[in-house]
Amino acid sequence: MYRKKPLVVFIMGVSGVGKSTIGKLLSDKYNLPYFDGDDYHPESNIKKMSQGISLNDEDRYGWLCTLNELAKDQIKKNSCIIACSALKEKYRDLLSEGIKTNVKWVLLDGSFDKVLNRMKKRRAHYMPVSLLESQFETLEYPIDALKINIESTPKEIVKIINDEIFKKSEFGLIGLGVMGKSLSRNLASKGIIVSIFNRHLHGIEENIAIDFKNEFTELNDALAFDDLGSFVNSIQKPRKIMLMVNAGKTVDVVVDKLLPYLSDDDVIIDGGNSHFKDTRRRIEFLRTKTINFIGSGVSGGEEGALKGPSIMPGGDQIAYKLVQPYLEAIAAKDKNNFPCCAYIGEYGSGHFVKMVHNGIEYAEMQLLAEVYFILKYVGNNPSEIADILEGWKSKANSYLLEITIDILRKKDGKGWLIDDILDKAGNKGTGNWTTVETAKLGIPSTMIASALFARYVSSFKEERIKMDELYNRRVKAFNMDTNDLLEAYELARIVNHHQGFKMLLEASKSYRWELNLSKIARIWTNGCIIRSSLLEELSVVLRETDNILYDQNIRNRINELKLQLDSVVSKSILVEIAIPCFSEAVNFLNGYMNSDSSANLIQAQRDYFGAHTYQKKSDDSGKYYHTKW
Ligand code: 6PG
Repeated sequence: MYRKKPLVVFIMGVSGVGKSTIGKLLSDKYNLPYFDGDDYHPESNIKKMSQGISLNDEDRYGWLCTLNELAKDQIKKNSCIIACSALKEKYRDLLSEGIKTNVKWVLLDGSFDKVLNRMKKRRAHYMPVSLLESQFETLEYPIDALKINIESTPKEIVKIINDEIFKKSEFGLIGLGVMGKSLSRNLASKGIIVSIFNRHLHGIEENIAIDFKNEFTELNDALAFDDLGSFVNSIQKPRKIMLMVNAGKTVDVVVDKLLPYLSDDDVIIDGGNSHFKDTRRRIEFLRTKTINFIGSGVSGGEEGALKGPSIMPGGDQIAYKLVQPYLEAIAAKDKNNFPCCAYIGEYGSGHFVKMVHNGIEYAEMQLLAEVYFILKYVGNNPSEIADILEGWKSKANSYLLEITIDILRKKDGKGWLIDDILDKAGNKGTGNWTTVETAKLGIPSTMIASALFARYVSSFKEERIKMDELYNRRVKAFNMDTNDLLEAYELARIVNHHQGFKMLLEASKSYRWELNLSKIARIWTNGCIIRSSLLEELSVVLRETDNILYDQNIRNRINELKLQLDSVVSKSILVEIAIPCFSEAVNFLNGYMNSDSSANLIQAQRDYFGAHTYQKKSDDSGKYYHTKW
């Protein structure tokens, strides 16, 4: 046994499968304490069973809690073996409460007749044979147990347990790029024994996993491979394997390579920024192979992955339960110490939510870029802008605000590094997907689209240089009250978040995901790139309403801040400074807050040239009219 991590091995199954025999043999082999769950029944339970009366959930509750306490106590010292029927999932949940990643289940499995025969031979046991039927009926098959048929001899069973539990790791990770490395170290630092794999490319990528393991002490117990088969075989079944590889084709290639080595019920978790429709396709395909697939958003960059990211898993909920303890262990914690990881919903919902997160991220970044640009044109140098933003933390703190301050302070030689960074923004595609998907859903997430298009405009650097020569811009010295700018920024961020959550709401209805918006806001309060004090507030607001703009406090704030937003936008436009996200916030609000709109003319035009018909304000039956214009 190489591992330092203490384990509680629960030998489970109906009465008569030989739990105590195996438990004692294991205990002897490893010199570990053994406990027979039956010895912990209160008198009342023993009496009931000996009268041939089955125990109900209430009878079992106290007994299961006692065994949970026993297990918790034991692992403070060492591993231990406990024999307990643990027939229902909720019993197993109670038994492993608070120690989920330390608990291993071994199900001793046999046919009714085989077990009955054994029971008949038994003496000195208070469980009458008549209860066996009810035990078989009660047994809910565990998906996360090592299942061993009792046709094997006790010696063989002990060997299987030794090979499959004591010699193997708990969790596998494929892809040791920046994120994969950080997540592996995060897992290991939580006491999780992890197998790590990186592909072998002769002369290019060799021994990556082994070298990486040797670099960090927390990986001492990790198992490192560059051979895929050995990697898969080193993980306990049902296996949990996380992919941290490039989104797109690579995921399919890795899944195809993995498939021949996998067994029923294994779970693959895709932690990359995959498209949610690809995730759905992969879930459906792998279901035909009895393999589970969880598509999980992971946000937080390199540091988040190491210290605690925000995790957005989607897919089959039963499969999620298998990986939940591991994902929760490595996730960031919110202010109440709950993990910033929660089951999102079925199919590709986890990756969809991560995509919207990135869309919101694009607009948050763009707003800060516009703030920086305005303050620069007012005449501040980067350090002065950083000083101004420092003063905004009390009202509008966020991770992105903090890193912007750091960035603006960074010197490069005598000047500021920011002044030397080429102003052409790149992107990896998630902002594009969000824009496309919001348009498909019919939701005006205009700030996300504007942030994306602002990056596209920036990318035409050569054309912008030419245009600058061709046109005389009106840019001239101007003043901007920094408090007005802060308030405009606060309001624009509210609009951005409103638009993002509105998109989630519509997707939830359209795809029947039943997304919990408040929970999503909560898991975004720490670990991820868009974490902020605003999201803390929204996680509460979204408990009561799914439209944050209906909330009384937010309404008051909008009424206080709107004039400043209007003023910042109009002043900037008059000096021809591009502020697409700020101006979209204004235009969206101006349209959305007004019961009257110009769309009556659009309808009339459509009817004029295309006989598309229109409805009338004066006829609330909803009838459609056509006019011969
Ligand atoms: C995160 C980030 C991360 C990454 C995106 C952004 O949540 O940790 O969103 O996923 O930064 O890939 O990519 P682009 O800005 O390059 O599109």
